[in-house]
Amino acid sequence: MIQPLAVGVLVSGNGSNLQAIIDRIEDGSLPARIVCVISNKADAFGLERARKHGVPAIHIDHSAHGGRESYDAALVETLRSHGVQLVVLAGFMRIVTPVLLDAFPNAVMNIHPALLPAFPGLHAQAQALRYGVKFSGCTVHFVDEGTDTGPIIIQAAVPVMDDDDEASLSARIQREEHRAYPEAIRLFAAKRLRIEGRKVSILQGA
Ligand code: GRF
Repeated sequence: MIQPLAVGVLVSGNGSNLQAIIDRIEDGSLPARIVCVISNKADAFGLERARKHGVPAIHIDHSAHGGRESYDAALVETLRSHGVQLVVLAGFMRIVTPVLLDAFPNAVMNIHPALLPAFPGLHAQAQALRYGVKFSGCTVHFVDEGTDTGPIIIQAAVPVMDDDDEASLSARIQREEHRAYPEAIRLFAAKRLRIEGRKVSILQGA
């Protein structure tokens, strides 16, 4: 029997995207299994969510590692030991290095709360409000060595209202994130994402 795609999720905080992925797996609409959730923060609520669903929740402390590469080597060891095929960054507040990317080529995804390439980096929603854009949204992309620069898989747009603040815009974007991330994983699991250079095409299928 073919095993569903083994996903490892990396979180640093709340983990609402992790929850959306768990929910889609549990309702049968995402043929994948989360084999481990890893956080650099011991108190990340995402770890709690994982435990609640019987998923191994692992804290790997970044302060115990000399540098980014050594931290990523520890991540790779744990991800591999759980048989991970796709690494999903879901609010993971660390820059990853080639140590992780080379271990999982074209198999590390991230979600960003803006329509990239606009507003990469931190506080994307505040950047969008400051700039005065009328639409923002979210982007699911493969991770490369840059910050939020990798090939784009899926984007979803939301309007920016005149009276929005960071919280109201973030909430509107998150509703789209919770649809887009499971969908990107579903396409990956179905082998329907073809990467050519920096362009990702979505192959026809179910
Ligand atoms: C999301 O807004 C995501 O776009 C960004 O970090 C946030 C994580 O939220 N990368 P959550 O922890 O999944 O609730």
